[in-house]
Amino acid sequence: MLRTVLCVIFLLRALPASANESRGHISVVLLGATGDLAKKYLWQGLFQLYRDEVSNGHSFTFHGAALTAPEPGQKMMFEVLKNLACPPDEHPTRCAVLKDQFLKLSQYYQLRTAENYTVLNREIEKLLEQEELEEAGRIFYFSVPPFAYAEIAGHVNSSCRPRPGAWLRVVLEKPFGHDLESAQQLAAELRNFFKEEEMYRVDHYLGKQAVAHILPFRDQNRQFLDPIWNRHHVERVEIVLKETVDAKGRASFYEQYGVIRDVLQNHLTEVMMYLAMELPANISSTEDVLQHKLQTFKSLQGLEKTSAVIGQYQAYTSQVQEELQKAQNYFSMTPTFAGVLIHMDSLRWEGVPFILTSGKALDERVGYIRVLFKNRAYCTQSEALRDAERSQCKAKQIIFYIGHGELNSPAVLVSRNLFRPVMPEGSWREVTDRPQLHLFGQPLSDYYVYSPVKERDAYAMLISSIYHARKDFFITTENLLASWEFWTPLLDSISHQAPRLYPGGRENQHLLDFEMLGQELSFTLAEPAEFLHTSKQTPDDYQTIQTKFRNSSLVSAWPEELVSQLASDLEAVAARAVARSGKFHLAVSGGSSPVVLFQRLAKHHYGFPWKRTHLWLVDERCVPLTDPESNFCSLHDHLLKHVRVPYFNLHPMPVRLNRRLCVEEDQGPELYAEEIAALVTNASFDLVLLGVGADGHTASLFPRSSSGLGGDQAVVLTESPIKPHQRMSLSLPFINKARQVFILILGRGKHEIITLLSRVGNEPKKWPISGVRPSSGQLVWYMDYEALLG
Ligand SMILES: *[C@@H]1O[C@H](CO)[C@@H](O)[C@H](O)[C@H]1NC(C)=O
Ligand SMILES: *[C@@H]1O[C@H](CO)[C@@H](O)[C@H](O)[C@H]1NC(C)=O
Ligand SMILES: *[C@@H]1O[C@H](CO)[C@@H](O)[C@H](O)[C@H]1NC(C)=O
Ligand SMILES: *[C@@H]1O[C@H](CO)[C@@H](O)[C@H](O)[C@H]1NC(C)=O
Ligand SMILES: *[C@@H]1O[C@H](CO)[C@@H](O)[C@H](O)[C@H]1NC(C)=O
Ligand SMILES: *[C@@H]1O[C@H](CO)[C@@H](O)[C@H](O)[C@H]1NC(C)=O
Repeated sequence: MLRTVLCVIFLLRALPASANESRGHISVVLLGATGDLAKKYLWQGLFQLYRDEVSNGHSFTFHGAALTAPEPGQKMMFEVLKNLACPPDEHPTRCAVLKDQFLKLSQYYQLRTAENYTVLNREIEKLLEQEELEEAGRIFYFSVPPFAYAEIAGHVNSSCRPRPGAWLRVVLEKPFGHDLESAQQLAAELRNFFKEEEMYRVDHYLGKQAVAHILPFRDQNRQFLDPIWNRHHVERVEIVLKETVDAKGRASFYEQYGVIRDVLQNHLTEVMMYLAMELPANISSTEDVLQHKLQTFKSLQGLEKTSAVIGQYQAYTSQVQEELQKAQNYFSMTPTFAGVLIHMDSLRWEGVPFILTSGKALDERVGYIRVLFKNRAYCTQSEALRDAERSQCKAKQIIFYIGHGELNSPAVLVSRNLFRPVMPEGSWREVTDRPQLHLFGQPLSDYYVYSPVKERDAYAMLISSIYHARKDFFITTENLLASWEFWTPLLDSISHQAPRLYPGGRENQHLLDFEMLGQELSFTLAEPAEFLHTSKQTPDDYQTIQTKFRNSSLVSAWPEELVSQLASDLEAVAARAVARSGKFHLAVSGGSSPVVLFQRLAKHHYGFPWKRTHLWLVDERCVPLTDPESNFCSLHDHLLKHVRVPYFNLHPMPVRLNRRLCVEEDQGPELYAEEIAALVTNASFDLVLLGVGADGHTASLFPRSSSGLGGDQAVVLTESPIKPHQRMSLSLPFINKARQVFILILGRGKHEIITLLSRVGNEPKKWPISGVRPSSGQLVWYMDYEALLG
């Protein structure tokens, strides 16, 4: 075998095309040489690499490897190689010659044991010596399951590294972990053996022509896109990969991953990054592209359970039962369909929904990215005139069509009423056939449509990039971990959520349609079964009870109704305060209970006088305001981010002064008291909102506290039994000066203290909450049934 290879290399070097100085030898080792991916794409991609590069001075050998013994392995591999073909534009004679050469340069290796790797290395060395070839580098393509990575990586590192001065490129195929932790672990293992620049993690979607053209398109059309590629102009972005096939035959893989890990976490997320990232000045700079991508990952808002809808085709569970030999009562929760709504915290994209959708057993096979622009034109013409080609009344969109579907080829479409795009001449051409075909609500004649001159397989493109050491289209470790960090919380939160079942194919009808409401997604149609259970509880259960608790008003209800009542009462107090004095001074405490109230206010109370509202803190933990433990930080995340309170109406407690936290000499409490005195009439807040701890504490006033329970200090430093220990708090006498005090108490965990409080008098040393008795104001207790009744 070796001898044939030598002859061919000798022969090739004698050919006129490579008669000039050799640029060195490249050995390509394909691990998993007889697997599906290799059969379908990789050998074809390597053959294309050979055809493209053979005359550029490098010599090549191709080493197919697998666990199979040499003879049968060799046979299987040559069965695959036999079928290699050239594209139609290649001259048949040249194709035949090149294919013959390629076959002679390819041979099979069994790679199972450490010794087998040593032998491979020795053979490569021998070839280099005998032929007096410089070594340029080695490519190891891991087309094997990830559990085999570490072992192979160890062998490659210890016995197959190239000679000094030559490069090593290791190509890895997904999955790269199934959550953040496993991805970190795999990354750490690989880092033992390879340097970051040696690793090429493939996301083959990035090699698709329409996807690979997103950045160049944005770059070449900057003059048109700069003014409109932002939240003021973009209505929404859809990134879609629909499949008609199901997971039959792949259930053992699919059951562990599901559609989000299989498609959204990698392919669709990477595409989203290309669309959303700030465009580097030089898009050829791999490093700049990566940095801008990572920046965009940081701007993604965290996903909640309600950010996704998930489904599963009906036959899936029985396929899993059969292929994984599960019992008949086994039900899979793995989603085979998902729609996810993503928002970004960036000035460019704030408020613009990015919708990622993928699924199996759907009605069509298609992949596309659609950027839909807002239509601001108000059209006064008649319908007939509106139809003019460039009418501003028509939809405006840019579509990167990845493939399949009605067009059945990659394409870039730009609405004619936007602009005529700049496209690279030679590689993309304008197409005007099938003008009547409708896509995304418009005939093709409404768009400028461009297709690649030459369709090229994604793997061929990626293999060429590996050869040229262009890392733009590969996923670095940092990039990979950023993506898992983003997706893992959602995956965890839906892992026990039952997906909606769908029949598959056209029968799905509208079952998987979904809609956006603020930050949430939900299926448009209620599930048939849901109709049956709408009246679970009698209406009486929902009525709020009003009576007395500790001689003050008590409002009690189920939590949702209670919070809604509290929010309405709060708005009423705010409106009265504004009518009376033009301002509303509200002091809120920390903890978890107010969070639901904040969310309620942000989502339902659009008439709230936020512009006139001053926000004060009842208490604060001695941590920086940016710390997640900080009450102000929580107020910011759950309320301030969503409403418009003027900056100068915000009054966080000064826990950090002179670059230290809550030090007495810095006089933080005195400063806060002065600020209140300066702005709040009679230092009497319009409303103070409190909670209660299971130990009877309120604000940051704990049982047996040495300060704040009496005396004339308005603001005090206190100690909490729970970390962080140091706190700042309004004092009890000061709270009691308020015009109104609302106390919100939720959950069964509070039942014991509530029972106790119903019996005791005024004993603030034991239970600070019992000392809350506004001197001339009003006190109202808001308790849910669980807190009140246990
Ligand atoms: C080697 O020959 C090829 C084909 O003739 C040519 O394109 C290439 O530039 C040459 N390389 C050098 C280093 O001369
Ligand atoms: C691979 O290694 C094993 C054990 O070291 C050996 O039995 C086998 O013959 C080797 N295969 C080849 C093709 O050298
Ligand atoms: C990688 O290979 C080098 C050189 O062969 C060796 O020194 C090193 O220990 C290997 N790394 C690991 C983690 O085995
Ligand atoms: C852009 O980056 C590439 C790759 O780093 C570099 O070769 C090229 O010179 C850069 N172009 C400009 C205009 O800076
Ligand atoms: C409620 O009022 C009664 C009668 O005025 C009084 O005895 C009792 O101490 C009051 N309870 C509280 C908690 O203030
Ligand atoms: C402020 O306090 C004084 C003295 O207690 C009182 O006369 C006055 O009415 C108060 N002002 C307001 C606006 O409540």
